[in-house]
Amino acid sequence: MKRIVFLISGNGTNLQAIIDKCKTGDINANIVSVISNNPDAFGIERAKSEGIETKVINHRDYETRDLFDNELFKYIKEVNPDLIVLAGFMRILTPKITDSYFGKIINIHPSLLPKYPGLDTHSKVIENKDSSHGVSIHYVSNELDAGPLIAQATIKTKDKEAIEDLIERVHAAEHKIFPKVIKLICDNQILLNSEKVIFHDLETNGVHIDEYYEV
Ligand code: GRF
Repeated sequence: MKRIVFLISGNGTNLQAIIDKCKTGDINANIVSVISNNPDAFGIERAKSEGIETKVINHRDYETRDLFDNELFKYIKEVNPDLIVLAGFMRILTPKITDSYFGKIINIHPSLLPKYPGLDTHSKVIENKDSSHGVSIHYVSNELDAGPLIAQATIKTKDKEAIEDLIERVHAAEHKIFPKVIKLICDNQILLNSEKVIFHDLETNGVHIDEYYEV
């Protein structure tokens, strides 16, 4: 069974979606720890109430990004995960972590990358009147929101849709595609080989998973 560590900063609805699938056995993995840089992250409460080990490493307690990352690195090394999942983790990791765990860290980002890396993706979609929006899941590299792409889910935008509604629909898409991808990784069906994402036994062989959701 794969050992997964989650890094979060907030609500943790994606974390919850994966916890639920681990509990039913759909995902063959153990979430061995949930780490947050934010002591008030609700995701920490979610993990605790499921009996999952939690760790708060508050970035405000460290003078530099390097010092924070050293602490994070030390803890992750102790936990020794097979997979590190960034799900709403609002800190940029330094190469110390991204290089050491390249191919073992994935991130979920609320846009159709390479469009809109970084923050405020939903408001950018609205401002630019984009006809579609979505979610990307990718391996984490040194470049922000730009590592090898594993999967994307697209949703259609609606005319004059309130940002809260759009965010909710993006979340709904995330909760569908993220468990799928994590399951495949835990079943050794997806892996990274010299910067190329490899899919085993899938029709998508060599091409990232591309789905469309009516949510
Ligand atoms: C998600 O939209 C994810 O794509 C982004 O941060 C959000 C986290 O949501 N990286 P939650 O904490 O899982 O509810």
